Amino acid sequence: MIEKIEWSDSYILGIPEIDNQHKKLVQIANELYDAALGSDENYSSEMEKILKKLTDYTVYHFSSEENFMRAHEYIGSDAHKTAHDNFVNEVNYQIKKLSADKKEDGQRFYSYIVGWVLNHIAKADRVWANFVKSKQV
Ligand SMILES: [Fe+2]
Repeated sequence: MIEKIEWSDSYILGIPEIDNQHKKLVQIANELYDAALGSDENYSSEMEKILKKLTDYTVYHFSSEENFMRAHEYIGSDAHKTAHDNFVNEVNYQIKKLSADKKEDGQRFYSYIVGWVLNHIAKADRVWANFVKSKQV
C-alpha cells in the first residue's frame, strides 16, 4: 500500500528558492501517486506523462542546487552532484521497465522516488544548505 506524502515545514532549509522547488517536487510526487493508482486504460500514458514531468523538474531543480553549491564553494559539491546523477540514472532506467500489467512495480517505483527525495531533502540537502547559509551571514 502506498501513501501520499505531505509537505512538512520540517523540510524547510531556509533557502526560499530551493524550498519552493522542494514543495513543487512533493506536489508532482502526489500526481505520480494518483497515476500509480489510476485506471488500467490510462495507466501507461498517465505514468509516462507524470514521470516525464517529474524527471524534467528534478533535473532543473538539481542544477539549481548544484549552482548554489558551486557558487558558495561547498566542499561536498561533487559528491552531492554524484548522488543527484545516480538518482536520475536510476529513475530513467526504472521508467523503461514499467508496464500496465505490472502496476505493483509502478507503486514500488513511486515508493522508491518519494523515499529517496524525502530522505535526500532531510539529510544531504540540509548539510549543504547549512553550509551556504553559514557563508551568507
Ligand atoms: Fe540535493
